[in-house]
Amino acid sequence: MNVPQHVAIILDGNGRWAKEQGKPRTYGHKQGALAVHRILEDADALGIKYLTVYAFSTENWKRPKAEVSALMQILKKELEDNVARSMKNNIRCRVIGDRGPLSKGILSAIDRLEGETKNNTGLQFTLAINYGSRDEITRATRLLAADAASGRISAEEITEEMIASRLDTKDIPDPDLLIRTMGDQRISNYLLWQCAYTELYFTDTAWPAFDRAALEKAIAAYAGRDRRFGGLKEKEED
Ligand code: IPE
Ligand code: IPE
Ligand code: MG
Repeated sequence: MNVPQHVAIILDGNGRWAKEQGKPRTYGHKQGALAVHRILEDADALGIKYLTVYAFSTENWKRPKAEVSALMQILKKELEDNVARSMKNNIRCRVIGDRGPLSKGILSAIDRLEGETKNNTGLQFTLAINYGSRDEITRATRLLAADAASGRISAEEITEEMIASRLDTKDIPDPDLLIRTMGDQRISNYLLWQCAYTELYFTDTAWPAFDRAALEKAIAAYAGRDRRFGGLKEKEED
């Protein structure tokens, strides 16, 4: 089967899933973190090389203070616990997003996780924390503008590659498949530049309930897609 090299996931529905069971939203976030552990193993076993998950968006600060701080606590623990798991499973971890507003504790957990796992050659795992595509493109634009203002480059010279190389995702290929759980069919500011030709897959399953069978179903749907990248299939030629 044609397995996507890079799968990006908008893990959505933690809160609604918890509420359906009469539990607080935070319970859903904790179970959502466990679902990430499982999907890392499943993705690796299925031959996926890159997995990029949306953990916290630049817009998620709008949530109630208590939920934001619970999410930050869970993220910190995940970043810390991920070191041992990643070393055991040869996983390289990276974090994308604007680190400016993150706490010192989270920043040092990110540095440690990225540093310790940087030579691992297995699954390439990227966590998007305080990530927003518009913010990422804005930051890249500032870098280019500074280069142009200082005369290092001229505005006419700017290429797509120069933009891509200033995005947080500069070291990872574009996603082949984007999965969003819990039924909403939108991108919510995730990897807008990178998903120009990504196949989109939406499922009603809530993130904490997303399991290996659900991942296999998404991959099977991907395998049946016809990716043309604006061109034609060979047999469509005159
Ligand atoms: C996804 O679940 C996790 C984050 C966005 C942090 P949600 O918290 O968005 O859960 P719902 O969508 O409200 O159910
Ligand atoms: C997208 O989910 C962000 C993450 C999964 C981290 P949201 O729940 O924040 O998206 P909207 O608000 O439904 O678009
Ligand atoms: Mg949501």
